[in-house]
Amino acid sequence: MDKIVVHGGERLHGSIKMSGSKNSALPILFATLLTNDKCKMTNVPDLADIKTTIDFLNFIGKKTSKKLNIVIAEESSKLNHIAPYDLVRKMRASVLVMGPLLARLGKVDVSLPGGCAIGARPIDIHLEAFKKMGATIELKEGYIKIFAEKGLTGADIEFRFASVGATENVLLASVLAKGTTRIINAAKEPEIQDLAVVLNEMGAKVSGAGTAIITIEGVESLSGFCHSIISDRIETATYMIATAMTKGNVTLTNVQPEHLQIVIDKLIESGLEIKISNNEINIKWVKPLKPINIKTEIYPGFPTDIQAQWMALMCLIQGNSIVEETVFENRFLHVCELQRLGANIKIDGKNVYITGVDNLSGAPVMVSDLRAGAALVLAGLCANGKTEISRIYHLDRGYDSLEKKFSKLGANIRRIKE
Ligand code: EPZ
Repeated sequence: MDKIVVHGGERLHGSIKMSGSKNSALPILFATLLTNDKCKMTNVPDLADIKTTIDFLNFIGKKTSKKLNIVIAEESSKLNHIAPYDLVRKMRASVLVMGPLLARLGKVDVSLPGGCAIGARPIDIHLEAFKKMGATIELKEGYIKIFAEKGLTGADIEFRFASVGATENVLLASVLAKGTTRIINAAKEPEIQDLAVVLNEMGAKVSGAGTAIITIEGVESLSGFCHSIISDRIETATYMIATAMTKGNVTLTNVQPEHLQIVIDKLIESGLEIKISNNEINIKWVKPLKPINIKTEIYPGFPTDIQAQWMALMCLIQGNSIVEETVFENRFLHVCELQRLGANIKIDGKNVYITGVDNLSGAPVMVSDLRAGAALVLAGLCANGKTEISRIYHLDRGYDSLEKKFSKLGANIRRIKE
């Protein structure tokens, strides 16, 4: 398995282009199942999860291909309603196949996704919603078998938690349902809004995306679309924090600053100089930063996908800070790896208490999940000596050309193929 080797100490400088959003591209790829027409996506990032999804769509019967950052999807044969374990276990977002196949075929069998490193990640909110829309659900031999032989019917659906995936699944299911669906306590992420833009371009009638109440009026059928995926706000925040940690001066292009306002505000509060012009952000370290507490929340609160990276930043800032994780139950697997690099951190329930140290020192570390891996790369960029990062396949799922981008910014980082 490949490794990344980083020799710390270089201050990042220069400019790089951010990629399209993984978490927007995935639901939009699944939305192509809702139509027989040709669908075109541009600004699609080059990621393992995108490849997994394209393979999955081709398995289901949707002829899909990617060339550079463009994906074209068109019908090739009768859609298959079964999503097997070996595809679903690779990527949890595969559960997003439920909504469109229920809408198109009235049935779907999806292997239970199982948990992952950051938590059990149940899908009860998704399934409760489908039941409210008239589906019946059976658990058999590790598969969730969902039937809606007479088609789905619109309903008022109140979420106990503003789940991103459940909001996306209900959007994908309700656009072809009979009648009107209202999602109450919907997730408000930019990725939800991007999906709604695409669905409406296909002829759906979705209103309120980005607010807590989304209303969907079912229609008979949907057409194709041509859409440019929004910029990846999590990638952007990751490179902003890397610049802060290395005391650098970096410009990020192809960004949408309005999608990561709270991270920008927290970095400015800590003492970073940030200049925004249209779709560019310049980040400049000008003075020692202050420790700042964060608490992860649903959008527009502080993103849980930036929690690990923020923790890495706090490890090197003089003073004490607290990171509270409220979205996932087990998203602190990066703590013990950061401790191996010399960080002064301790976990107490859903809080992590950090005391900044003057230096980290390089060591071999192991990636447990995508964003934990990002935190380890950031720490390695600052640690004295060599940091060897293994199990980087997690990183390849969500960061497009990570080591190439950091190299371009002056980091001493390389991938070792093993
Ligand atoms: C999406 O995951 C993202 N993934 C995650 O990003 C992100 O961390 C998460 O939203 C929160 O923002 C994609 O968009 C592909 P949720 P999702 O449903 O949809 C619980 C990354 O790093 N829950 O909002 O799975 C769940 O266990 C990934 O790019 C239920 O209990 O997130 C979790 O504790 C990691 N029952 C919380 O809600 C359900 O039916 C948030 O889950 C659904 C969720």
